[in-house]
Amino acid sequence: MTLTPEQAKKLVGEKAAEFVKDGMIVGLGTGSTAYYTINKLGEMVADGLDIKAIPTSKASEKQAIEVGIPLVGLEFHPVIDITIDGADEIDPDLNLIKGLGGALLREKIVAAVSKQEIIIADERKLVPHLGTRSPLPVEIIPFGLEVCLTKLKPMCKDLKMRMVDTMPFVTDNGNYILDMYFDKIDDPVKLETSLNNIPGVVENGLFIGLATSAIVESEGSIKILQRPT
Ligand code: A5P
Repeated sequence: MTLTPEQAKKLVGEKAAEFVKDGMIVGLGTGSTAYYTINKLGEMVADGLDIKAIPTSKASEKQAIEVGIPLVGLEFHPVIDITIDGADEIDPDLNLIKGLGGALLREKIVAAVSKQEIIIADERKLVPHLGTRSPLPVEIIPFGLEVCLTKLKPMCKDLKMRMVDTMPFVTDNGNYILDMYFDKIDDPVKLETSLNNIPGVVENGLFIGLATSAIVESEGSIKILQRPT
């Protein structure tokens, strides 16, 4: 059975909500797939589920408030039981590219302190190598724009500043995003370190060793992938 993209997102987004239990601190991802998880969690809270949630973006925070999910600050719960989030690419080791929605910085902070990081996606996001279908977003401080452009350009095939019409896209943290294009990323671990060593770079969208499992839609059914040990 072939699902529409929206049906696939709803299927995996709602499936992931089943892993959320009473008493948990829950990281709320960002994007069009995490949207369905947040809606489902809102329904579950209305039916009595007792959770506190930490959103990864202003958009997810707004949606969570609208559907009645109680929120709490990361400063009060610096360890998170479970986070459910989308991704732009997933490799066979469950390493990811994230950030096409622009929320990579908060998503990565939350993922780094989550006991379980469940990724929800449709099968098209599965890739043999990172960098083959999605650019790699890099969040930078506006003051460092020219420096970062100069440093990042030789590291990729193409580099584009993310724009909204004629204005730079500005993240929830007041920063800019540079999108790096590759044929494929040969060494994601090395690239992640190299990027974060550049002054002006705040964070990049490589999520290495952070996802614990992925719930993926394939031909109308669900596959659960575990990170290889
Ligand atoms: C947000 O910044 C991103 O990391 C999203 O999680 C990612 O882009 C997946 O989004 P969709 O579920 O909308 O494809």
